Formats: sequence, C-alpha cells, structure tokens
Amino acid sequence: MAGKLDGKVAIVTAGGAGIGAATARRFAAEGAAVVVADLSGTRAEQVRGEIAAAGGRAAAIKIDASDPAAIEATVRMAIDSFGRLDVMFNNAGMAEVSLIHETSLESWSRVIAVTLTSTFLGLKYAIPIMRAQKSGVVINTASISGTRGDYGMGSYNAAKAGVINLTRTAALENARFGIRVNCVCPGGINTRVAQVLGKDRADEFRRTMGAAHPIGRMGEPEEIAATVTFLASDESSFITGASIVADGGITAWTGMPRMPGAK
Ligand SMILES: NC(=O)c1ccc[n+]([C@@H]2O[C@H](COP(=O)([O-])OP(=O)(O)OC[C@H]3O[C@@H](n4cnc5c(N)ncnc54)[C@H](O)[C@@H]3O)[C@@H](O)[C@H]2O)c1
Repeated sequence: MAGKLDGKVAIVTAGGAGIGAATARRFAAEGAAVVVADLSGTRAEQVRGEIAAAGGRAAAIKIDASDPAAIEATVRMAIDSFGRLDVMFNNAGMAEVSLIHETSLESWSRVIAVTLTSTFLGLKYAIPIMRAQKSGVVINTASISGTRGDYGMGSYNAAKAGVINLTRTAALENARFGIRVNCVCPGGINTRVAQVLGKDRADEFRRTMGAAHPIGRMGEPEEIAATVTFLASDESSFITGASIVADGGITAWTGMPRMPGAK
C-alpha cells in the first residue's frame, strides 16, 4: 500500500523518545527515510534500529539541537545519506519549572535555546535546501503552553509562543517557494513521565493531568505523530502558517466552573 510520505526524506529532532520517536517511526512506516537526531546518541540509534528492523530507512545522529553546527550537520546528513530534504520536524524543546522572579538567566537562556533557537536553526538550515528544491515542509513542535500561561513555566510559555509566531513568519516568507511551515500544539502527552517522576508519582501525575483534559486522559505520542504526519503529507497541501491544536479539548475551556444544571 502506498504510504503518505513515499520517497520523502525527513529529519526529526529530539527523535530518540516521546513525540519525536513516535513520529520518526510513523514517518518511516509511511515510506520516508528518516534522520533521527537526538541529544542521546543511544536513543537516536535505538530508534534508527527499530525503523531498520521494520524494513524502513533511517540514519541516527547525536546532536544538541540548540547548536548551529549540529543542525547544519544534520541537514547535511539527510542530503548525503538520502539525497534531499522534504520534511524538517523541529521537535526539540525543554521546560524548567520556576517562578519568573526566581528564574536564573542561565535557566531562561537554556530553555529559550533548546526550545526556540533550535526551531530557528532548523528553519535557517532547511529552508535554503527546500527553496532550491522548490518544495518542502517544516513542522515545529509548539505547545498549548505557547497559547496560554502556566504556573511556574514562564520561560517555556515564552519560548513556545515564540515558536508559534516564528512559524507564521516562516510560512509567509516561503509560501511562494513551494514550502509550507506549520506547528503542532500538543496538550499533556504521556511521554517520559515515569522516567522523570518515578512510577508512583507518574501514575498520580497522569491522573491529575488526564482529568484536566475534557477528553479525560493525557494524549499519547502516537496521536501527535499522526497530526504531524498529516502536516508533513500532501493531504495538508493548503495549510501553512497554522497552529494545529491537539489537546483533548483543554484549550476549548474558559476555565469557568460547570454551570449549575449543566450535567
Ligand atoms: N509531553 C508533553 O506533554 C508535551 C506537550 C506539549 C509540547 N511538548 C513538546 O514536545 C516536544 C517533545 O517532547 P516529549 O515530551 O516528546 O519529550 P521526551 O522527554 O519524551 O523526549 C525528549 C527527547 O529530546 C531529547 N533532547 C533533549 N534535549 C535535546 C536537545 N537539546 N537536542 C536534541 N535532543 C534533545 C532527549 O534526549 C529525548 O530523547 C518538546 O518540544 C516538548 O516541549 C511536549
């Protein structure tokens, strides 16, 4: 059966775990050759191996996505290994929790670098290749945290809002060159919660987070991968500059309590 991305070449940053790994696997299953780029060389290599074992094509590279030389090398790897670059998924991002007035400049700069500067770099190095090809798609991972505030996440809120508006400008600048640029805004996604919090606290966190979503649960990485694959494919051919929310309904809510009588 024909895949949605047959013959395409894609890069996935932070492709070693969570949303990135699920998307790398899905891209490959849809026929794309995938460069899996991650801060953890071990995780990148593991996802590459899984794709190869399933009969797909992939390469792995260890990178810090906030490092210009690393993103340049990743783009070069796509060209050298697979001959072109059709899909750039700028997915790296990180949060550090602290109140704004207690946030150190180092912490602020780290979150902005890994979350927003990495997206800028992905665009900076992918766009010239795509302009020369006269085709290409960029998808950036933003967040609903880029559309609203969260307690203790000021640097992340600012960085993800930056990703959303950078997406719009990149879409405008490149629309006439056959390049589409969009972002996805996930709600709470069930990624490495257990590794970060430990099993007991992770279960509690999943329950609390799940209950905050009208759908009643957190999202799964594969659900975001499905949205990203749609944006990467020709099925979204008239969509550019958009922020696609995939959040189980959480941003549909004003935050007002349930009205008496509304069962
Ligand atoms: N999980 C959520 O609830 C959620 C919600 C909205 C948005 N997001 C965004 O989705 C993206 C992926 O998040 P996730 O939850 O899948 O992450 P994850 O924690 O499951 O995996 C993150 C991966 O990124 C890699 N990584 C970390 N820093 C990196 C860097 N500087 N360069 C390259 N790779 C790096 C890690 O090694 C890891 O393999 C991030 O941009 C995140 O902000 C996540």
